[in-house]
Amino acid sequence: MDKLIAIGGGPLSGKVRISGAKNAALPLMISSLLTKETLRISNIPHLHDITTTMELLGQLGVKLQVDETLAIEANASEVESVIAPYELVRTMRASILVLGPLTARFGRAEVSLPGGCAIGSRPVNLHIKGLEAMGADIKIENGYIKADTHNKRLKGARVFMDLISVTGTENLMMAAALADGITVIENAAREPEVIDLADCLNAMGAKVKGAGTDEIVIEGVEKLGGADHRVIPDRIEAGTFLVAAAISGGKIKIVDVIPRQIESVLDKLREAGCQIETGEDWISLSAPVGKLKSVNVRTAPYPAFPTDMQAQFVLLNCIAGGTATVIETVFENRFMHVHELQRMGADIELDGNTAVIKGVGNLFAAPVMATDLRASACLVLAGLVAEGETVIDRIYHIDRGYDCIEEKLAQMGASIRRVPGHYFSQQSA
Ligand code: EPZ
Repeated sequence: MDKLIAIGGGPLSGKVRISGAKNAALPLMISSLLTKETLRISNIPHLHDITTTMELLGQLGVKLQVDETLAIEANASEVESVIAPYELVRTMRASILVLGPLTARFGRAEVSLPGGCAIGSRPVNLHIKGLEAMGADIKIENGYIKADTHNKRLKGARVFMDLISVTGTENLMMAAALADGITVIENAAREPEVIDLADCLNAMGAKVKGAGTDEIVIEGVEKLGGADHRVIPDRIEAGTFLVAAAISGGKIKIVDVIPRQIESVLDKLREAGCQIETGEDWISLSAPVGKLKSVNVRTAPYPAFPTDMQAQFVLLNCIAGGTATVIETVFENRFMHVHELQRMGADIELDGNTAVIKGVGNLFAAPVMATDLRASACLVLAGLVAEGETVIDRIYHIDRGYDCIEEKLAQMGASIRRVPGHYFSQQSA
């Protein structure tokens, strides 16, 4: 397994273009299953999860082409299978998003239960409850979700989401697009990625209203057509690079970003003492001259502070000049980066879903291990501000969700390189 070596150095500054959002691109690609016509999606990020999604769609019989701009053309006119196998689903939970479209268009689907992941048990009961409300018969057998409409069209239904789930909302929105009648999703997720999917579905001929609010109304149609859709920028990648500049005393301009989509993060960076300016599709940040101020953070569904930025702000508070709490309310086990940061000299007390962080000014290099996508980005940034050479292991997590992270950080002046896993065995021999 490859590792990343990050060497603590000076300020991270420069200009970075933000890639398309992973969590928008995945449901957008999967929505191609809803139509016989070709769906073209541009601004796709170059990530392992995108490759996995292409593999999954290919196995279902979707014809895929990638053009010179990395845009993907998907055509599901000859889908041969409705089975999403465990081997693929276990590597990428978002595979669950094929359940709604397959059931809606083909009346059947067999999708492996995704199982938990490092950050939590991640149940999919709300996805299943919604499809059952629309008339699908669902059984769980041998680790697979087996949906069957008995050759009937799904029916519109009113579905209340007990918990706010982004992929839950997206799965049901896609299924409802082809259902007979009106579906109302209450307590829906309001994330920008949900809006992006609704915009694409409407371009395909769907009738989705209210995306971005907590009540989405979908009037089902008989069939959907093709479309040409550009993926929105990745607000979490944007936030990650802003934190990189903030914690290293740097100055950054990020372009191809939608500032209002990370307002909660910008608010916290200002509170920490950063100077921030925004334009229509850009954000510039200058770190404070002295120490950053510690900032209290509480994660919650959009538009509140995103859980995917929690690890990065635990790190910011590690080197800020005070004490702060970070409360994680979305996932039950999303503090694994804390133990790694403690090994680098951080002063963090964990108490259930609350981390109390006392700023220690600076961290020291140590071999660390990535555990989940966003935690791994936090460890890379920690290595770039710590004294010495930090080796980050299991960086496949980072490759799933960040497009060319070492190249983009190197553009900002970072000293970072990827080495093959056996590099160290040779070194030690
Ligand atoms: C999406 O996950 C993102 N993934 C996550 O990003 C992100 O952290 C999360 O939303 C929150 O913003 C994608 O969009 C592909 P959930 P999602 O499992 O919607 C409970 C990343 O790093 N729940 O629905 O799949 C669940 O336990 C990833 O890019 C149920 O109880 O999140 C959790 O507490 C990590 N039953 C909460 O809802 C269900 O049926 C949200 O979890 C579904 C969810």
